[in-house]
Amino acid sequence: MCGIFGCVLKDGPAAPLIHSSLKMLEYRGYDSVGIATISDGTVNMKKDSGKIDEVHKILNLDDLPGAIGIGHTRWATHGAPLKVNSHPHTDCTGEIVVVHNGIIENFLELKSELTNLGHTFVSKTDTEVMPHLIEETLKQNPKLSFEQAVHESLKRVEGSYAFAILSTREPDKIICARNESPLVLGINGHGVFCASDIPAFLEVTNKAVMINNGELVILKADGYEIKKISDGSQITREPITIDWTPEMAVKQGYPHFMIKEIHEQPETLRNTLRIQDHYLDLLSTFLDRANEVFLVACGTSYHACLAASYMFSKLAFLPTYPVYASEFLEQHGKSVNIDSTILAVSQSGETADTIAAVTCAQQRAATVLSLTNVIGSSLTRISRVYIGTQAGPEIGVAATKTFTSQLSVLAQLALKLSKKRGKISQDEIDCLEAKLQLLPEMVNIIVTTQEEKIKGLAKKYVNAKVFFYLGRGISTATAYEGRLKLMEIAYIPSIAFPAGESKHGPISLIEDGFPVVFVCPRDDTHRTVIGNIMEMKARGAHILAIIEEGDEEIKSLADDYVEVPKGIPAVLSPIPYAVPLQLLAYYTAVEKGFNPDMPRNLAKSVTVK
Ligand code: F6R
Repeated sequence: MCGIFGCVLKDGPAAPLIHSSLKMLEYRGYDSVGIATISDGTVNMKKDSGKIDEVHKILNLDDLPGAIGIGHTRWATHGAPLKVNSHPHTDCTGEIVVVHNGIIENFLELKSELTNLGHTFVSKTDTEVMPHLIEETLKQNPKLSFEQAVHESLKRVEGSYAFAILSTREPDKIICARNESPLVLGINGHGVFCASDIPAFLEVTNKAVMINNGELVILKADGYEIKKISDGSQITREPITIDWTPEMAVKQGYPHFMIKEIHEQPETLRNTLRIQDHYLDLLSTFLDRANEVFLVACGTSYHACLAASYMFSKLAFLPTYPVYASEFLEQHGKSVNIDSTILAVSQSGETADTIAAVTCAQQRAATVLSLTNVIGSSLTRISRVYIGTQAGPEIGVAATKTFTSQLSVLAQLALKLSKKRGKISQDEIDCLEAKLQLLPEMVNIIVTTQEEKIKGLAKKYVNAKVFFYLGRGISTATAYEGRLKLMEIAYIPSIAFPAGESKHGPISLIEDGFPVVFVCPRDDTHRTVIGNIMEMKARGAHILAIIEEGDEEIKSLADDYVEVPKGIPAVLSPIPYAVPLQLLAYYTAVEKGFNPDMPRNLAKSVTVK
């Protein structure tokens, strides 16, 4: 996890820019923060545990001299979130300073070797081995340059990393390196930046250079050099223009990113409908030829895969297997082969479990396809073909707009495949395509007409100790997603099941006043769902139903309901039906006084297995 940022400016000071850039990376972790700069040949550093604003209030992070510096916002992996474990980390002399995102897998071996050579470690982190390793490399080969010493040291490091490193020996440059953790450069007329993600420097430039695994970068005020770590050969890579505006990466007046992102969904869904047809065509061609298709993802993205398995089955008669990425190796690692196709779905494109599953499949000659919101992410580089989900940067830790974007792209893909396979009539396809076009406006109607009501429901149910979420058919995926949202940001233990399964055990939990959320679009499951509602009501449950507008039958049974516009076909229903559940989770978290953008123990991009 963690966010790193570094800059070499033609004219200082670097610290205020590092501070504001780290704020944009806080979604990657917020256990501690630190900044180091160099001025007059000396390292200046401030760091502490706590969120950036808290630490800044005490230390004034802007008040460090120098036009060059690096910074870090941390999500603890090795060592508790304490000041001593905060980045940057230094060598024994304090002349070499490192920030790192990733995990150095062989750090214990390196640490013991370096300790035996007389190095003193102060933290419990894996990162701290890096400055000492560079120090030792220079001690043993004094003629090496800073870059050469970093290069040699990297050859000893196993694991994942995005490093940004400073040294007082050559105080005009930052050396960066990447393996499996994201790293991107930004460039403008005032200097060069390195960061874990684009929003970090979007305020100052939209010119970005993606760094690949196994690359080392030398940043100087007037430019950058990229080299391969394996053989030191130079790589030429020109900046690309990022069309995200800085405004897209700030809150725009909303109290939280999450609610801003929920409100953005009409627009992001519209963007998904602009995806170039040939990408959908290409991806669906691969799917059409596949013998077996695994839909691989984690968390919310997994729920999109679960919904997609219904879409592919109903529209294209293609059976697919949704699999949690973290289980893929155990479940299918040995059997996946050249005839297998993996469609990986990941907002960040950096989720370690997803990357591990895909890498395993790739090594076994399977075809890897993907959907991600971050073009240039690790996932896009591993995939044979990928499609961007067009949602723009998502800062709130809980996925919202990226979920509905994933669903929209997956639905388009299923329709494309359906056309290829000729399994449903052209009229039906045309009708579904027309309905897809209506979804942005439908979501807009939900957000504008139901938000106040949902706010009220959040107040009503705020003290519930536990929630049930039930749905049938494709709505099972919607129910799972609603449950995850509430649980992760409002910390209310919640349970989700296919409604039919609830009577095979979970129903024993029901007692008077137990809140049960039913996701019930008017589809083929409607009648059976009514039966399930009756079962729950008979045991005293409070029914909160997400229904189609005007569904009088369920209105008469439910204690509370939220209405979704009419006329949405079942296969597309998770898109609008997820929205009231996102709002319910958001307002419940707010009602409880929690910050929905920063749920405890979570980070936006989970880059550890
Ligand atoms: C939940 C959430 C997580 C992510 C999961 C996968 O709101 O955001 O469950 O969905 O960590 O992340 P990506 O999609 O980046 O692979």
